[in-house]
Amino acid sequence: MSEFRLTQISDTHLGRRFPGLIANFHRVSEHIDAGRPDLVVNTGDVSFDGPTSSDDVEFAKSLHDALPVTCRYLPGNHDVGDNPTAIGPAPKPPVSETHRRQFCDIIGEDHWAFDAVGWRFIGLNSLVMNSGLAFEAEQFDWLSQEISRVNGRPVALFLHKPLFLNLPDDAETPETSIRYVPQPARARLIEMFGKVDLRLVASGHVHQRRDFTFRHTRHVWAPSAGFVINDQRQDRIAIKEVGLVEYRFQPDSLEVRHIRAAGQVDVDIEELLIQIGDRH
Ligand SMILES: [Fe+2]
Ligand SMILES: [Fe+2]
Repeated sequence: MSEFRLTQISDTHLGRRFPGLIANFHRVSEHIDAGRPDLVVNTGDVSFDGPTSSDDVEFAKSLHDALPVTCRYLPGNHDVGDNPTAIGPAPKPPVSETHRRQFCDIIGEDHWAFDAVGWRFIGLNSLVMNSGLAFEAEQFDWLSQEISRVNGRPVALFLHKPLFLNLPDDAETPETSIRYVPQPARARLIEMFGKVDLRLVASGHVHQRRDFTFRHTRHVWAPSAGFVINDQRQDRIAIKEVGLVEYRFQPDSLEVRHIRAAGQVDVDIEELLIQIGDRH
């Protein structure tokens, strides 16, 4: 195999009570079925609300199981709870070992590493960072082992939250601290990945499509496959649309394609809030 085709989907937010999100997932599934990549990675918020509804997690997994392609997953804050941050309000709910376990039991591994076409691929659970949970330290130990085994290969990192907005040492603010990997874990991650040839950081979470290069690392923010967040509720950083991202990895190169599946609709968050009975 001289090429490895990976499709990233993110923020599918699946639950039985959201027909618009289910329809978008089906459009994405048809696109994946037609293209048959080597792997699909869902970078989190797989389910609508894992901490209060294990059924959302079961339902999301059943739709992914129907795909004709192998899938890997990473948790989002809607699957396992959110990161505590130094500066922002306490997350509701905070990440917990119970919900991390639920994710692993129903969906699968929440962190992983593998090799393909000369690349090293690493997926991390970004929600446990700065949580103080035992698994936070365990994952960092596992990561340092993985990093010591990279042996000069290019590395692609997948995680739910972007590392930063523009610069690694961007200050955290109360309004945006939950948008990025929180400090001090962010600085530690950046230092660890500074030892290897990190070419790609692929994230989700913001529900905006963005693609920029900082030094020699390309940062790709996958849009949500399901819905967009309007400007009244969230500042506009990049492109607000639903879609997915396709990657073609070759031994020393990477191609990125920004895609919308045929028939995908830009469902607005207001539609979902009405469906869950929250009108403010
Ligand atoms: Fe999300
Ligand atoms: Fe998220």
